[in-house]
Amino acid sequence: MIECENNYRISNIRGKVISFTGGKGGVGTTTILGEIAYLFFKLGTETACVDFDIHNGSLHMKFDITLTDRIHTVSDLIPLVGELTPRTISNAVSSTTRGVRILPRPESIEQASLLSSSHIEAMIKSFSLTYPLVLIDTPAGANPIAVSTCSVSDITVLITTPEIPSIIGTKRLLDTFSSSKTPFPLLVVNRSFVGKDALTLGEIESFLGMHTSVIIAEDTFNTRRLSEEGRFLSDEKTPVSRGIRALLKELSSLLQIHS
Ligand SMILES: Nc1ncnc2c1ncn2[C@@H]1O[C@H](COP(=O)(O)OP(=O)(O)O)[C@@H](O)[C@H]1O
Ligand SMILES: [Mg+2]
Repeated sequence: MIECENNYRISNIRGKVISFTGGKGGVGTTTILGEIAYLFFKLGTETACVDFDIHNGSLHMKFDITLTDRIHTVSDLIPLVGELTPRTISNAVSSTTRGVRILPRPESIEQASLLSSSHIEAMIKSFSLTYPLVLIDTPAGANPIAVSTCSVSDITVLITTPEIPSIIGTKRLLDTFSSSKTPFPLLVVNRSFVGKDALTLGEIESFLGMHTSVIIAEDTFNTRRLSEEGRFLSDEKTPVSRGIRALLKELSSLLQIHS
């Protein structure tokens, strides 16, 4: 059980919230979020991540955390949403070897089905009253969780790869954002390469009707190698880590931290 307290620490300082979402699964959303969280922490910002990719979330794996009975997840906060305090939030998150705190996705599909948009919004608000920076992982594609998460975030990072299925998913998500008045996101094109299935940057931007903020290269060799060694991409200078640092710079200047 998560320890609660009666004496609320009333905080007027609201931390910044960045949601990361993908036009399709497998585009690198969790990888990029984890790397950005690690870099912000290394620069001195206390950073917490929440995994609202309730069915497929793998953020805990990126931080080498195994879901056991001793690890609290998003589901453990559901019964407490009306009384969440910074103390409850900090007792619920798990510390990681990289310094970043995380609250993983629910362990089972049954638990995940209990999570509503109002739970998500209350949790994000409480996280932002507890940590100066909160990064949120969401399910891929146009779905209510991604939309409600992004609508209460300061910035949304929308990640796509250059192939047609991913671009179509991204377009559908953008259309859903504009009909729900969600703020316009930053576009990241990940795994950018010139392959037979890949669209050019010009084609992507004209189809989506927006500019790309950051391009991250395809580098399967180093990405796999570092992951197998339990290391982060940002631990080494590679084409991918250069793209991730460009995104960090963009986010820092938008949020006016470390810029
Ligand atoms: N730029 C890249 N180059 C090569 N592999 C990548 C790159 N970005 C991500 N990957 C790999 O793609 C796979 C899916 O990434 P993940 O972050 O889990 O995607 P998502 O969260 O969008 O489902 C992972 O194996 C990851 O290591
Ligand atoms: Mg993911």
